[in-house]
Amino acid sequence: MKVLVVGGGGREHALCWKLAQSRKVTEVICAPGNGGIAKHARCVNVGAEDVDGQLALAKKENVDLVVVGPEAPLVAGLADMLEAEGILVFGPSAKAAMLEGSKTFSKEFMERHGVPTARFTSHTDLTEALAEVEKRGGPCVVKADGLAAGKGVLLCDSVQEAKDAVTSILSDKAFGSAGGQLVIEDYLKGEEASILAICDGADFVTLIAAQDHKAAYEGDTGPNTGGMGAYCPAPLVTDALREKIIDEVIRPSVDGMAEDGVPFKGVLYAGLMIDGDRLNVLEYNVRFGDPECQPLLAMLKSDLAEVLENAAKGQLAGTELEWHEGSAICVVQAAGGYPGAYEKGDEILGLDDAATVEDVIVFHAGTRKDGDKIVTSGGRVLGVTGRGDSVKDARDKAYAACDKISWNGMRLRRDIGHRAL
Ligand code: AMP
Ligand code: GLY
Repeated sequence: MKVLVVGGGGREHALCWKLAQSRKVTEVICAPGNGGIAKHARCVNVGAEDVDGQLALAKKENVDLVVVGPEAPLVAGLADMLEAEGILVFGPSAKAAMLEGSKTFSKEFMERHGVPTARFTSHTDLTEALAEVEKRGGPCVVKADGLAAGKGVLLCDSVQEAKDAVTSILSDKAFGSAGGQLVIEDYLKGEEASILAICDGADFVTLIAAQDHKAAYEGDTGPNTGGMGAYCPAPLVTDALREKIIDEVIRPSVDGMAEDGVPFKGVLYAGLMIDGDRLNVLEYNVRFGDPECQPLLAMLKSDLAEVLENAAKGQLAGTELEWHEGSAICVVQAAGGYPGAYEKGDEILGLDDAATVEDVIVFHAGTRKDGDKIVTSGGRVLGVTGRGDSVKDARDKAYAACDKISWNGMRLRRDIGHRAL
């Protein structure tokens, strides 16, 4: 089987690394790929969001399966375009990808199908949105409706902050066209965890629970990022809670999409807020999380290509996943300044040395090959992923490898996995 992976971040490196190990896979192609992916896949320089280019590549290479990493090409309809050409694809249709592409769509969907989520209203009119904030009279969360690279969520502690947030989105267009509409919802308390399900339109199989670290700095402070690290399994999600999440969130979501005539095929990612017995969905994503994908695939024993092919074909029923014992943790090494402005083109030193650390794999995100060197080319640069008998063991291995890697301005969080320790 010849597989095309769309994307070029740490998530796609993990996907290519895992797919390349499959007995079924003869070749992995990745577009555009990056400096590290080239070890496991043939990289072709077609941008992830160039859906016409990706379709042309899939046809030219006559691939047997396309696995789409990021959300943007899915929302833009890449899965529909591939299916129309008879090419097997793992990833949702544009309509199904609206679960991530529009907060209003996903909130209305959850309301309709009884999936627990924060009480909300949706607005396009500034005066009405300001009135809603006034009426609430306290903390709330304001979210730009469309895709905003994880930055469109504003946690507001006061009415004034919420008014500023609403004005910046609807009037000042802080998130461009993603903010033509917004959602105002209750500010929830609790601890976050994510459950990802691989879905085939009707059936699904869930992955072990993961926890992400969105904040830029230690102690979960500073601005939100795409994710500074992740680990799994998250001990917060006990077996009983996991069953509850499947019964109250995953199954009704998969069934609801099928009932609504938009069967969901691909990864359904439920971002959850857990407060004792109370469970609420903060958001859906329609793809593997990045960096959650890295530790999840480090823990997965099953043949990923086989699972994704079966999901793409609608033949997932009866699938059970096998996992390694222990835990895995991914520590993101980022460029100085990230998530704000940062330099690119710095040479990364110590990669070969880091590769000698047992049970560690260094996934590349924002890297590029420059002659013999690997240089930085993005904000999140590497996802150093360790596996061990416990979270602590996995963490110690990951940081041991991180400490061998350096470049000008490199920064990381030293406390990834702290909630599990
Ligand atoms: P989202 O992209 O919707 O997951 O939001 C990004 C982050 O904002 C989440 O991971 C939470 O940390 C936080 N968040 C989103 N919605 C809420 C909410 N209703 N209450 C509290 N925190 C939230
Ligand atoms: N790490 C969170 C996400 O992929 O959206």
